[in-house]
Amino acid sequence: MNNLFIIEHPLLQAKLTVLRDKRTKRQEFRQTLSEIAMLMTYDITRNIPVSHVKVETPLEETTGTVLNKDVTLVPILRAGLGMIDGILELLPDARVGHVGVYRDKKTLLPVEYYLKLPENVKETFVILVDPMLATGGSALAAIEILRQKGIKELNFLCLVAAPEGVRAVHEKFPDVKIFTAALDRQLNEHGYILPGLGDAGDRLYGTE
Ligand code: URA
Repeated sequence: MNNLFIIEHPLLQAKLTVLRDKRTKRQEFRQTLSEIAMLMTYDITRNIPVSHVKVETPLEETTGTVLNKDVTLVPILRAGLGMIDGILELLPDARVGHVGVYRDKKTLLPVEYYLKLPENVKETFVILVDPMLATGGSALAAIEILRQKGIKELNFLCLVAAPEGVRAVHEKFPDVKIFTAALDRQLNEHGYILPGLGDAGDRLYGTE
């Protein structure tokens, strides 16, 4: 699938296995999700625009690199929040917008209940964050909102994706780049990913 990037690094996959394990307790779940998010940041920023600058080493002048675009992280409430601290470890200066959104099951229209984005968001490198890409309902709703704000290039960072969710996003927005640690088998009748890891928000926040 074009624009689907599955990051198969062994460190990442070992940590994902910890998250999948139903015996993993809340504190370890939170910590491990954060660590995975940090590791995935390395890949998702691979094509971030850079400029070249001169730098003086103790021995001579050479050419170095600086990132030339601000980064905006946009977690989808609430589970997306669980990945933000890990990403900020590598991108400490990133701005963080928030989107609270779901897709109304009857009208299929996105219902936005919270939105706060930095003013210059459309000039930044935007990473939309939600650990589970299941039906794609909230991802699609969030992407629609961000597109309405003029954001053209969008990177979607998740942890586990279902083929149904990837298809739903790419049918409507083929140019959105989806980064995931795993493409799982399918959704069950309740919209949970199989084998998945259960409800990420509930496991993060102890609301199961
Ligand atoms: N959201 C989750 O947290 N888990 C799933 O399996 C599907 C959606």
